[in-house]
Amino acid sequence: MDEKTAREKAEALPSLLLPWYDKNKRDLPWRENTDPYRVWVSEIMLQQTRVEAAKEHYRRFLQKLPTVQALAECGEDELFKLWEGLGYYSRAKNLHKAAKIVAKEGFPTDAEGWRKLPGIGDYTAGAVSSIAFERPSPAVDGNVVRVLSRVLGDGREQDLLRTEYAKLLAPAYPEKRRGDFTQSLMELGATVCLPSSPKCLACPLLGICETKNDALPVKKIKPERRKSDMTLLLFYDKTQAAVCKRREGVLQGTYAFFTAERAMDEEQVKSFLRECGLKEFTVSAPKTHRHVFTHLEWNMTAYPVFTEENVCALQPPEGIVCTPFSDLLFAPVGEIEGKYSLPSAYRWCLSLLKKHCR
Ligand code: ADE
Repeated sequence: MDEKTAREKAEALPSLLLPWYDKNKRDLPWRENTDPYRVWVSEIMLQQTRVEAAKEHYRRFLQKLPTVQALAECGEDELFKLWEGLGYYSRAKNLHKAAKIVAKEGFPTDAEGWRKLPGIGDYTAGAVSSIAFERPSPAVDGNVVRVLSRVLGDGREQDLLRTEYAKLLAPAYPEKRRGDFTQSLMELGATVCLPSSPKCLACPLLGICETKNDALPVKKIKPERRKSDMTLLLFYDKTQAAVCKRREGVLQGTYAFFTAERAMDEEQVKSFLRECGLKEFTVSAPKTHRHVFTHLEWNMTAYPVFTEENVCALQPPEGIVCTPFSDLLFAPVGEIEGKYSLPSAYRWCLSLLKKHCR
């Protein structure tokens, strides 16, 4: 498509989308007002989490940490507990770092200022400065790429288009309601211009759309996920079970159960425990679980292990790689569930532990 036609289509967007948005927008907790802190937290949560999954976390988060000062002063364990279930904990870490800066220096008011904060990319900088500060700064995420590539009939691979679409959109921003314009594009992508089976007949852009189906955008072929086998040992005694805190990696600071990074059958688990120096223990039937991350897949097998011997500073034998955790610490299962931030990759173990340790 030539540049002029693309520009004309972009310029037509606000008058087509804003009336549609007024009638059809979802009632979402972060749309109650345009307080920059609230908008910012919502955009960070929504980067890799679906709207439905984010809603309840968002409400809880704002109830506990209603201001940027409260967030800046909150401890990491409390923050991670509030983030539990949302995944991608580096978002919470960066949000925390950035809050400490904003609590001192105040909120940036344009995209360039937001972009300088930890964890803020072009998309989030554009979203927050348009929604909270009415700046003409586009926010092009996967949803918006999908809408525009279809409207323009753009058959190029979608990863290449974000910057270009942001440049196309910026001059098309209306004088008023810039935040609503940003959100109307996202909303159309989320509710009408769906990845498959888009609702073209209900779309306000039908008249200017070159595609009118789900043939675009062209997707990048993703490399296969790296697969790892993991064996989890759920140590427990009569009243308590053992968790540990992760020392490294993207989940650093969250809690987990003891993990050896290889597959083990029951006999191998028993000889591993003997090599660790344990004498009296009982290994129960395991449960398996597959956990899929963006680039990784963990095939996990968890064995409940009853022992009354001291396992706190377990020294694994040479040659068996174990995830770098703190020493094990014992707590009642209810407390582990309620107080420690256990990422979803480990949370499923709680039901297995509850059967054995009450
Ligand atoms: N996805 C990202 N930002 C959003 C917003 N403000 N509303 C709905 N979905 C979104």
